[in-house]
Amino acid sequence: MKVTVVGAGAVGATCADNIARKQLCDELVIVDIKEGFAEGKAMDLMQTAQIEGFDTKITGSTNDYSKTAGSHIAVITSGIPRKPGMTREELIGINAGIVKTVSENLLKYSPEIIIIVISNPMDTMTYLALKATGLPKHRIIGMGGMLDSARFRYFMSQALQCSPNDLQANVIGGHGDTTMIPLTRLATYMGNPVAEFADADTLAKVAADTMVGGATLTGLLGTSAWYAPGAAGAFLVESIIRDEKRMIPCCVALDGEYGQKDICLGVPVIIGRNGWEKIVDFKLNEAEQAAFNKSADAVRNMNEVLSTLSL
Ligand code: 2OP
Repeated sequence: MKVTVVGAGAVGATCADNIARKQLCDELVIVDIKEGFAEGKAMDLMQTAQIEGFDTKITGSTNDYSKTAGSHIAVITSGIPRKPGMTREELIGINAGIVKTVSENLLKYSPEIIIIVISNPMDTMTYLALKATGLPKHRIIGMGGMLDSARFRYFMSQALQCSPNDLQANVIGGHGDTTMIPLTRLATYMGNPVAEFADADTLAKVAADTMVGGATLTGLLGTSAWYAPGAAGAFLVESIIRDEKRMIPCCVALDGEYGQKDICLGVPVIIGRNGWEKIVDFKLNEAEQAAFNKSADAVRNMNEVLSTLSL
C-alpha cells in the first residue's frame, strides 16, 4: 500500500505521523511546494521509526509527483490556513488553484487513486477535486464531518462529564461555522438519548461550541488547528486501507440523496476499500432537513465562485 500526503504543513505532517504510527502502509510520500520542506519532514518522521516501532518508509518530495506514482490514497492538505477572524470560505481564491493543480498531478501518476480533501473551504475543494479529476464520485472524500463530529463528541463529553468514546454524535452539512449541523436529537450516550443527561440549554451550547470549534482554535493558536484535522485524515485512510466499513460523516457528491444534487456535502457514509461505498439515509426531521437545505444553498453559492476564478 502506498499513501501520499500533499502539504507538509502542520495538518499534513500530523496526518503523516498518524499514518506512520498506525503502520497503515508500506510507503508514505509527503509532497510540498516549498524546497526541501517535505524531505525534511519525512526525514524527521523517519527518525521516529525506531522509537515508535514502525516500518513504513517515508519519503519527501519537492513538487515532484512522479514520486507519488501508484498511490492508493492521497490526502490533500495544501493551501493556506485561516488566520483569526477569517472564515474558511475566505480562502477560496488562493486554495482553489492549488487544490486543482494538486488533484490533476495526483491523477496523472495514480489513475486509481482515492482522494481525501482537507483543504478549505473543504466542501467546495472536494467538489473542485471531483470536477478537476473526473474520478468516479466514490473516490473523492471530504474530511470535514469526521473532524466536526469528533469536536461534537468532545464538547458533549465535557458537558456530560463522560468519555467521548461512549458517545455517538454526528455532524452533517457543510464544514463551515454556520453551515454545519450537529445532530443533537440523534446523539446518544451508550445508546441513551443525550437529552436524558443534559438540559436543552446545555445541549444547545454544545452544538454552538461545535460549530465554531475550528474558529475557537484559530483564535487560540493564531492559525488553524492541526492535531484533530490530521488525525481525522488518518482515520479515514485507516478505514479505507483496512476496509473497515465504518460509518463516518464525510463530504461526498450527492445525487438526490438528502434532497440535493450536483454538490458535495457532509452526510453519513460507509468508508471501505473502494472509498465511500454507500450513503446512509438518516431520517431527518423537518428542522434538520431545512438546516441541511440552507447549508446546501451556502455551499452551492461558494461553488459558484469557482467559475469566477481563472483556474
Ligand atoms: C478545522 O476546522 C482545519 O478546517 C479545519 O480546524
